[in-house]
Amino acid sequence: MLLEIKDIHVHYGKIAALKGISVDVDEGEIVTLIGANGAGKTTTLKTISGLRSLSAGRISFDGKDISKLAGHKRVLAGIGQSPEGRGVFPGMTVEDNLYMGAYARKGDLSKELAEVYDLFPRLAERKSQMGGTMSGGEQQMLAIGRALMADPKVLLLDEPSMGLAPMLVQQIFSIIETINQRGTTVLLVEQNAQQALQIAHRAYVLETGRVVKSAAAADLLDDPEVRAAYLGGDLGEVPAEASVETEGKRLD
Ligand SMILES: Nc1ncnc2c1ncn2[C@@H]1O[C@H](COP(=O)(O)OP(=O)(O)OP(=O)(O)O)[C@@H](O)[C@H]1O
Ligand SMILES: [Mg+2]
Repeated sequence: MLLEIKDIHVHYGKIAALKGISVDVDEGEIVTLIGANGAGKTTTLKTISGLRSLSAGRISFDGKDISKLAGHKRVLAGIGQSPEGRGVFPGMTVEDNLYMGAYARKGDLSKELAEVYDLFPRLAERKSQMGGTMSGGEQQMLAIGRALMADPKVLLLDEPSMGLAPMLVQQIFSIIETINQRGTTVLLVEQNAQQALQIAHRAYVLETGRVVKSAAAADLLDDPEVRAAYLGGDLGEVPAEASVETEGKRLD
């Protein structure tokens, strides 16, 4: 087990945001967390990366208890996070933003930089542009690229498709698959449950701070409860006849 989250409780003041969440991520997997607004997905990722502290439970990474480890040491250990809402440094160039992702590491970063530019050619074209002037979708790519600069063993992604045009959404999901196929384990949080379940191996459903379901992603895609709550209800596919009906007919 690469990452083991065991019965964690997290509070904001007196409010319990996580009420005993357990999630396992094996090396090489894409695991996705789905759930409604406020379910605790972002809080779970922030607790793994050390931005929030837990009041009970335990997080192990690579066999070690990291529950109390400082955030920058978790980055060094191999936990990379691309935060919700991007967090790009607006007054720094794209390339300097990327280097910030590896600030805790020493040594030559040319290999990591080349890999990020290979995944995101747009970032290479725009490497001298200020981060703050990049478009929303480009900033999303920059945030993911920055997390990859530290060469993480596991990449935590919080809503990578948020605010992207449909074509870019497809592209981001296929890049996440490529990142995974190149050897990085991924823990993905997504509003876009349909797409997330299509690329994930396993998934957990969160409701108000608890895990209410966990299964192979393919099984959740067929689960009637999950379909009704998170996938827009019906079984998706438009029957083939529907398009045949109008074929050759003018609609005006
Ligand atoms: N800084 C904070 N102070 C107080 N409460 C917070 C804070 N951050 C989150 N919460 C609360 O904790 C709960 C879980 O929030 P979280 O951001 O983890 O949800 P989420 O599943 O990521 O939701 P979304 O899909 O809307 O991003 C919510 O009820 C939220 O209001
Ligand atoms: Mg969130």
